[in-house]
Parts: sequence; C-alpha cells; structure tokens
Amino acid sequence: MIQGLLQDQPKTPNKTFGMAFAPSNIALIKYWGKRDTALNLPLTSSLSISLGDKGATTRILPIDADHDEIFLNHKAVPSIEVFYTRLVRFLDLLRPDPHQHYRIETTLNLPVAAGLASSACGFAAAVLAFADLYAWEVPLPVLSVLCRLGSGSAARSLWHGFVEWHRGERADGLDSYAEPLLERLDDLAIGLHILSSAQKPLGSREAMERTRETSRLYDAWPKQVAEDLYDLKQALSTENFAHLGAIAERNALAMHATMLAATPAICYWLPETLSAMQTVWSLRADGLPVYFTEDAGPNLKLLTLKKHQAELNAHFPALEWVLPFEPRNQS
Ligand code: PMV
Repeated sequence: MIQGLLQDQPKTPNKTFGMAFAPSNIALIKYWGKRDTALNLPLTSSLSISLGDKGATTRILPIDADHDEIFLNHKAVPSIEVFYTRLVRFLDLLRPDPHQHYRIETTLNLPVAAGLASSACGFAAAVLAFADLYAWEVPLPVLSVLCRLGSGSAARSLWHGFVEWHRGERADGLDSYAEPLLERLDDLAIGLHILSSAQKPLGSREAMERTRETSRLYDAWPKQVAEDLYDLKQALSTENFAHLGAIAERNALAMHATMLAATPAICYWLPETLSAMQTVWSLRADGLPVYFTEDAGPNLKLLTLKKHQAELNAHFPALEWVLPFEPRNQS
C-alpha cells in the first residue's frame, strides 16, 4: 500500500541532504484509541492547534553504511533503544532502496516524550525532510498519511494553525489524513506549564490500547468526541474563545476519565497537575478566561487570550508562551 503511494517518485536524492521543520501540535479534541493498530487508524476524528515555531527540525543524509545513524538533540541514539527501532521501521517505509541508509539528525525545541507531542513533530519533520531530499511531488494528504504511519498525531503536524484529522472509513487508511482549517483565532495564547520533562512511564500507544480494551468508560468516548468536535467547530466559526476553551478542557478531562477507568488504571497526573487545574478553575471563577488541556503526560497547556498573559504569569511564573498565529521564523 505505502510503496504504491511513492512508486512514481524519484528514487535518487536531489541534493546531499534534506532538511525540514514541523511544528508540534496539541489536540483540542483528542485522538485516543485506534481502530487499526498497525496502520494507526483512529476510532475518531480529532482537531489540533499547532505550536508555532516549537517543534522538530530534521536533517537526513544518505550514508554509505549498513545501518541508520540516529541523532536526537545532538546525541547518538543507541540501536537498542525503542525509539531507534521505531524510527528505523518507519524509515523502511520511506527509503526507495532497502540498502540505502541514512544519518538522521533531529533537534527538538521542546521536552521529549513528556506529552508535548515530540513524536508528532519528529515523524512529520522526517517525512518532510525525505520529501525535500528526493524532491517528491506528492499531495499533502499523502504526506499526512505517511506521517500517520509513524505516529497518529504526526498526521496533524504538517501545518500551522487549526488542523483536523479525519478518521476515514477505508480499511487501508488512505482517507485517514489531516487538513488545515481556515479559521483562525489571532489572539490565542497557549501557556506551556511544564511540570516534568521526565520520560513518561507508559507511552501513548500502550495507554490507548489498554484503555480501549479494558475501560468501560471508553464506550462513551466516540460519542463525546462527535459532540465536542461539532461544538468546537461552531466555536471556531464564531471566534468564540470561551466556548473553545470549555470544550477543549472537557474533552481532555473525558479522555483522562477513560484512562482512570482502565485496568490497571492509567494516571498521568502529578499532584502538581491537579493543583494547577484547581488554580485554573479558581481564576476562571474570578472572571479570567483560562482553560487547560492535557495529553499523555503531567504537563498542562493553558489556553487564554494574549491580553491575559501577564495576569497568568503572576500565578504560573514558569509558563512558556506560544502564540500560534504570530509571524514565525520557520514556516
Ligand atoms: O500520536 P500518539 O501515538 O503520540 O498519540 C497522541 C495522543 C494524545 O496526544 C494524547 C492525543 C492527541 O490527539 O494528540
């Protein structure tokens, strides 16, 4: 199937190395659970916001060697690491010649594997760097399908702004790709509240499988997503920030509720996570429009409007701000 997608593309490099940047993305309506684990086909559609110039830059060079060399943040990744095997297996889908190996250098300007979508931007940057190296001419939905095979949420990391990943219906997954949305929210500000940059104990792949297989609450999840997705799109079309924040927050909490009901329970929260949530709720009760979302890690992403950044800094001094609709260096 995949080979078919790239069969008409150039097989020899167009330059000495390919290079690309892909932004990280944070889901406002989460992808949680697959209908096909091998192809990373989701049970539901999802919708994200990209994190501007926070993401991954990847450089790919063809090398004369019998194995791939992988560097993450300037450090060689040993071949016994899960990340190495996972990336090499992904490269096997992309390399035009099975004997061609590469040196892949990825630098991330956000913490690795702490629920900040580092794998999403990492796989998307790798696909774009390949496209640059070989001068592929493939439609963006095809690139999104390729990204999805590396990591589901990577399908959404090819664009800035709001992005929707359509679940698709086909068994081969060719209609399960993301697309950028035209709506913007120019005043949106996202505060990264990083409580821990430690590697998470349980990866999202295992966590979503366990939830799907063992959580009774998971039956309710597709219905929740359908409603939240509909409501969020309404909020976007009316540029209603408070509505957007409320829907994103309830969707994230519902996702974590499905995990808490799994056996054994999955809880990514630290005591500091809950305490930050309580601060958000009390600030909101006092009239400050701030909401949160949380992924497969203890960190929160606070959603607010630019004019409230200073006030939030007083309560969360270490926030790292992302303004998704401001002009960027990379794009
Ligand atoms: O793409 P994965 O396998 O890293 O899973 C992403 C899961 C969440 O971040 C929790 C939700 C999402 O839609 O990004």
